[in-house]
Amino acid sequence: MDKQVDVVVAGGGGFIGGHLVGALLAQGLTVRSIDIKPRHEWYQLHDAAENVIADLSLLENARAGVEGARQVYMLAADMGGMGFIENNKAACMMSVLISTHMLKAAHEAGVERYFYSSSACVYAAGKQTDPNVTALREEDAYPAQAEDGYGWEKLFSERMCRHFAEDYGFTTRVARYHNVYGPHGTWEGGREKAPAAVCRKVAQAVLSGDHRIEIWGDGLQTRSFMYIDDCLHGTQMIMKGDSGVPVNLGSSELVTINQLVDIVERIAGIRCERSYRLDAPQGVRGRNSDNTLIREIYGWEPSVSLADGLEKTYAWVYDQVKRSHQ
Ligand code: NAD
Ligand code: GDD
Repeated sequence: MDKQVDVVVAGGGGFIGGHLVGALLAQGLTVRSIDIKPRHEWYQLHDAAENVIADLSLLENARAGVEGARQVYMLAADMGGMGFIENNKAACMMSVLISTHMLKAAHEAGVERYFYSSSACVYAAGKQTDPNVTALREEDAYPAQAEDGYGWEKLFSERMCRHFAEDYGFTTRVARYHNVYGPHGTWEGGREKAPAAVCRKVAQAVLSGDHRIEIWGDGLQTRSFMYIDDCLHGTQMIMKGDSGVPVNLGSSELVTINQLVDIVERIAGIRCERSYRLDAPQGVRGRNSDNTLIREIYGWEPSVSLADGLEKTYAWVYDQVKRSHQ
């Protein structure tokens, strides 16, 4: 790569990356979007970006990828919802090669600002055992007891950002995303998260007339879900800001999985007969985002309601399901 670009988005063929590339282009910035997937598998392909296929776990590809870039958003990872991360811990941990090589390459190349997408999975499991969970504050990541596999990789990699900042003066920014959903996300295949999975199951019920759906767990476990528009706003805000400390980027609207299903059913205009699969991957019992720090630093927090975000997400997933039925 011999061109200068304003921004590199690593993982640009994925859900958040695809949206971010679109938002950055709309702001008039030049963007290089990099992903390991073949082009036809990219969730969104923006012709105005320089679209590169490369395995960023290799140092030489990471070096080529960041060449000439002012800023880097590092979103590339081998990840998914509970169905994936519970059964693919080694694969999740191997993302450490992407995280390490991208950070090293960006620092060496003199990149001005580097954003790393961490996760709520860094938080200690012992603080998430109750559905009426006390929302997680940033300090709850320590003493460390992260989600096995995926969470440990995220915690290690965000810590590496901190040490590159402290030891080398490299400007790094870290957000801990809490479950992000929206159109153009993974909705089938095993890596999908609960919002898209529930939208798909309800859409299939509508289209097939068979109103029986399966829910993982007893439906009483709790989460908060952040709509993609809030994620995009928060991500860029944190990148531009002055603080290098990892900060929660998540909604604080706590719901049970049953309540999530209720909302989707209301949008779809049906009631489903639910069965509960107790041997399915469930992760922590309860998780919510404490937004005190993001409000203190930036005077902002995610605000799109789950009902509004799901309305748009359901419409998009419904279209995908309908198309796959034809
Ligand atoms: P995604 O899976 O849709 O996107 C990640 C992209 O990275 C994929 O397109 C994948 O092909 C690419 N990738 C994987 N290995 C690569 C490699 N070796 N080289 C180049 N590209 C590679 O995921 P997403 O939901 O868009 O998440 C983006 C980032 O945010 C990830 O780091 C993820 O861990 C983090 N995150 C997401 C959520 C969420 O709820 N979506 C929550 C917490 C953290
Ligand atoms: N995926 C999925 N599919 N989950 C379901 C389903 C289903 O059909 N039915 C019920 N669930 C339940 C899961 O058992 C889990 O208890 C809860 O919904 C949430 O599951 P996910 O959305 O898959 O993941 P998560 O919230 O536990 O973790 C996700 O968010 C983290 C950030 O907050 C993952 O995507 C992590 O990778 C991410 O870092």
